[in-house]
Amino acid sequence: MDITGQTRICAIVADPVQQVKAPQLINAWVDKKCVNAVLVPMQVAPAELASWAQAMRGLKNLDGFIATVPHKIAMCDLCDEVSPAAALVGAVNIVRRDPDGRLIGHILDGEGFVAGLRRSNIALEGKRVMLCGAGGAANAIAFALMAAGVAALAIYNRTTAKAQELIDRLKPIYPSGELTLATDSPVGFDLIVNATSLGMSETDPLPFRAYQLVATQIVAEIIMKPALTPVLAVAQEKGCTVQFGLPMLECQIDLMADFMRLGQR
Ligand SMILES: NC(=O)c1ccc[n+]([C@@H]2O[C@H](COP(=O)([O-])OP(=O)(O)OC[C@H]3O[C@@H](n4cnc5c(N)ncnc54)[C@H](OP(=O)(O)O)[C@@H]3O)[C@@H](O)[C@H]2O)c1
Repeated sequence: MDITGQTRICAIVADPVQQVKAPQLINAWVDKKCVNAVLVPMQVAPAELASWAQAMRGLKNLDGFIATVPHKIAMCDLCDEVSPAAALVGAVNIVRRDPDGRLIGHILDGEGFVAGLRRSNIALEGKRVMLCGAGGAANAIAFALMAAGVAALAIYNRTTAKAQELIDRLKPIYPSGELTLATDSPVGFDLIVNATSLGMSETDPLPFRAYQLVATQIVAEIIMKPALTPVLAVAQEKGCTVQFGLPMLECQIDLMADFMRLGQR
């Protein structure tokens, strides 16, 4: 990669940032497409996000940035405009900087998650799904699962009020969908999704009662590091089909580059 004065910049903003995988994936995309651009990691504390976003408005050779933990929800409010999908979810994970400096946000997490499952030949139509988590990623996944035609979606989250609030936003859009709060038990579900951050740290507890899993169930993870999280390890021991976290991001790379118009200016 030769960085020149013409090189376009994009970024990933996170805190911490050391664990992110997007730099490798986007920079490999840049190499493959022979685009004069580079993605750099930027570690920004939540308290500094607004002033950082303001500085990005003035950075004329910036095409855009990926926003990830813990900034997806806060960044949605800081954008000058967001897509209808991002407005529904209340979070953004990709932001384009238009030539006039305006920041335009969109969310691709749900689309990426569903595409990753389909790439693994896991059908969603008619499935009964338990979703653990109600944060930025879980919100996006919930809307995408309903759009993909699951029969029932039950949401379990440490902060129950956030799970209920997500259900309340889904219900008007999917009035005939079976949308409920879940307990921490996976019994009776076809697919269980861990969309919490539990599993990133070695000392984390399991996100749900994984010892109740049976071999006919599918367990999907969205954490990418470590690849084999404790909950996936238990699921594998129980003989379940498992879906790792990386495909969700891999399936977003083309879409992210396209949204930022990377290499098109
Ligand atoms: N593979 C991919 O492409 C991809 C994409 C996006 C995100 N991710 C990963 O997904 C994870 C979540 O991201 P996010 O953006 O949704 O984060 P977030 O908005 O901060 O949400 C975190 C979620 O985890 C729960 N949680 C956190 N600590 C917990 C604890 N100690 N006990 C119980 N629940 C806890 C939170 O519950 P409360 O609501 O109670 O706080 C919330 O539901 C991260 O690990 C991120 O790296 C992966």
